[in-house]
Amino acid sequence: MNGKKIILCITGSIAAYKAAILVRMLVKEGAEVQVIMTDLAKKFISPLTMATLSKRPVLVEFFDPENGSWNSHVSIGEWADAMLIAPATANTIAKMAGGIADNLLLTTYLSARCPVFVAPAMDLEMYKHPATQLNLSFLQERDVTIIEPGTGELASGLEGKGRMEEPENIVLFLKRYFHIQAYQDKVWNGMQCLITAGPTYEAIDPVRFVGNYSSGKMGFALAEEIANRGAKVHLVTGPTHLQINHPNVDCIRVNSALEMYEVCVLKYPQVDVGIMAAAVADYRPLDISLSKIKRTSDQMSLELVPNPDIAAALGASKLENQVLVGFALETEDGVENARIKIARKNLDFIVLNPANEEGAGFMTDTNRISILYADGRAMDYELKSKNGVAVDIADAIEQYWEKD
Ligand code: PMT
Repeated sequence: MNGKKIILCITGSIAAYKAAILVRMLVKEGAEVQVIMTDLAKKFISPLTMATLSKRPVLVEFFDPENGSWNSHVSIGEWADAMLIAPATANTIAKMAGGIADNLLLTTYLSARCPVFVAPAMDLEMYKHPATQLNLSFLQERDVTIIEPGTGELASGLEGKGRMEEPENIVLFLKRYFHIQAYQDKVWNGMQCLITAGPTYEAIDPVRFVGNYSSGKMGFALAEEIANRGAKVHLVTGPTHLQINHPNVDCIRVNSALEMYEVCVLKYPQVDVGIMAAAVADYRPLDISLSKIKRTSDQMSLELVPNPDIAAALGASKLENQVLVGFALETEDGVENARIKIARKNLDFIVLNPANEEGAGFMTDTNRISILYADGRAMDYELKSKNGVAVDIADAIEQYWEKD
């Protein structure tokens, strides 16, 4: 969002108070924000608040009544990288759909050439009304993006769909838009990518399992980054509380290594890249007890059998135009072990991360990686957020392609 110029238009809705949070978040992300308000919006939130937060005078009228200076809707529209109407009332949506131009917001909309986003906010019956739905679909046909309202308690006291989307989700929506746009012409566009994430749970009985500490954060960060670059991502994840709601991500949830294996071998032939970030259990109990195992003696042994090696199976079927990236989580002899894994699993490169270093590996929000290539090259990276690590891995794949 750094340096992006955004027109934030506020209309007369109780949700206008959220526009203050929205402008703050946009400015924090590095965006320049020009606020336009309708007359009615001023009754819900003061222009002074919005001007202070956006660090620019708020525009409401076509001209300044004091000195007659003209607020040119054409130049505002030309200046902007995006126009966001949040909250957007049924009235403003209807006027936009009908081409009415009786305030500065509407004239700016009609003359703007940048992408336009609308975040509706209204009562549930107003939102459901065929007239509103028709107006929204008119706008969509003209390439306006609708940021769907959420469901919950409304100002009327009723419950339903019509709450303006929360500011953090609107900011995320815009960030993704700019990210995808930046990568539109690059290699990822139109590509498909299979990513594994999280732990696997190998059932012992109905209430116990063999598992590990993987949170899924590394795999989810990769899914978000690569989806933002325009690729279609098939994210196959073991049990985790993490959520991902991205138009380019198909999230498939599994429990065990066998389930993960089945989904991956099915999906791999259709993808261009596979990234194996999951911590897959190498062994599973031979027998799963159908009832909870009772404590009967002082000792208990579990007989374990090997799980299929998913990365190795994909590596064995890898086509010439496919790239396969593995991870290696090591406590000692990292480089040697990782190099053995590259060869055994037929990987193009492996991401080595330490299991016993603070801020790296399992669960943390950060990671420290080295990338080891099949041709012997290696690259070390500094400790950084898992989102930053995902950027490095996506860049490394891009460079790997370009090299070919
Ligand atoms: O989920 P987080 O908390 O964010 O933690 C991230 C992580 C530490 C789990 C991640 O960065 C990571 O290192 N994932 C791989 C962990 C692992 O299982 O490493 P490994 O060295 O045992 O396995 C080597 C490779 O083979 C991995 O790509 C693994 O996904 C794959 N594998 C292993 C066993 C198996 N049966 N099938 C596999 O596909």
